[in-house]
Amino acid sequence: MGKVRFTNPLTGDSMPHQPRLISEPDSEYKLNPEEQAQKDEYRQRLRQYLQDPEFRQIPGFPIGDDEAILALSDPPYYTACPNPFLPEIIAKWQGERAELRSELGLPEDNAENGNGYHREPFAADVSEGKNNPIYNAHSYHTKVPHPAIMRYILHYTDPGDIVFDGFCGTGMTGVAAQLCGDRTEVEKLGYYVDQEGWVYQKPGNEEPISRLGARKAAHNDLSPAATFIAYNYNTPVDVEAFEREAKRILEEVEEECGWMYETWHPHCDDPNRMKARIRYTVWSDVFVCPQCSQEMVFWDVAIDHENNHNIRKYWPCPHCETLLSKSPSKKSGAVKAERAFETRYDRALSTTV
Ligand SMILES: C[S@@+](CC[C@H](N)C(=O)[O-])C[C@H]1O[C@@H](n2cnc3c(N)ncnc32)[C@H](O)[C@@H]1O
Repeated sequence: MGKVRFTNPLTGDSMPHQPRLISEPDSEYKLNPEEQAQKDEYRQRLRQYLQDPEFRQIPGFPIGDDEAILALSDPPYYTACPNPFLPEIIAKWQGERAELRSELGLPEDNAENGNGYHREPFAADVSEGKNNPIYNAHSYHTKVPHPAIMRYILHYTDPGDIVFDGFCGTGMTGVAAQLCGDRTEVEKLGYYVDQEGWVYQKPGNEEPISRLGARKAAHNDLSPAATFIAYNYNTPVDVEAFEREAKRILEEVEEECGWMYETWHPHCDDPNRMKARIRYTVWSDVFVCPQCSQEMVFWDVAIDHENNHNIRKYWPCPHCETLLSKSPSKKSGAVKAERAFETRYDRALSTTV
């Protein structure tokens, strides 16, 4: 991505925007004096808002002192509290929206015809997997994959429209709103996009279902952690600086904790032992054969390592060859393997566990 620029919502000026990374306060993405002055002004205005007791009376206002809220915030777009700049931003976006509509030949808003807005209800099954790299970049409860949201946004809105998500969680609505302007992402939904940016359900269809173009998103959540994640998901980031910083952190962690991932190969008593890196660790149940009372590790006996590590329903006891299973089966003649137990006295609980 390299250097990323974004537009100041109030002045329309293009400005570089690189949120400070942990160890790179003096990266090449320093703001010029004018841009820095603008940023300082927003910060100062946020500071004034925070000192207003009425502002802090807004229901759900986070518990935190002014400095903590200011440190987390990146005004005007992101504030770790109700955003006092939202009306200004919306007004600016509305202006941009009107210009874009005229550029794209979309009808002007007109109060007399109820703004001319009409959409049939979106009536299709939407099912999206959860293995998208954007989705997986940060977990969150009840997180929605952005391609699912894109289908709704494309159906109900035009480019430049403003989408509000008052319960944004990790901000997947904003990701979806932005990616409605990305041809490849829209095509990945199975839609066809023509040269002019009209979006069709399928090639050859006569009626377009939407128009290619980013939508704007306003996000809110009661949880400052959620809004912080949403902010980072929706703010341009300098990929190279991010990678440098990620590698630096990994090296630091490696130095501190790398020893926890070392072991002796082939084992510690071998005279020719060497240091080896633990790539992964498998935790497995231990079962007991009811026939010969010997123990076995489930991973060793029941996993078909040659066949995609599938789990076998039945396996022979490695000691007496009795056919075993987790659940008894008359058909196969397999006998139920029991879980191995260990009984110990727990001094803290003063009881046997
Ligand atoms: C279902 S999650 C949304 C997850 C989101 N769709 C995503 O993709 O990450 C619902 C969110 O609503 C927020 N929430 C609950 N009550 C709220 C309230 N009264 N005002 C604002 N947000 C609220 C929760 O903090 C939670 O993040």
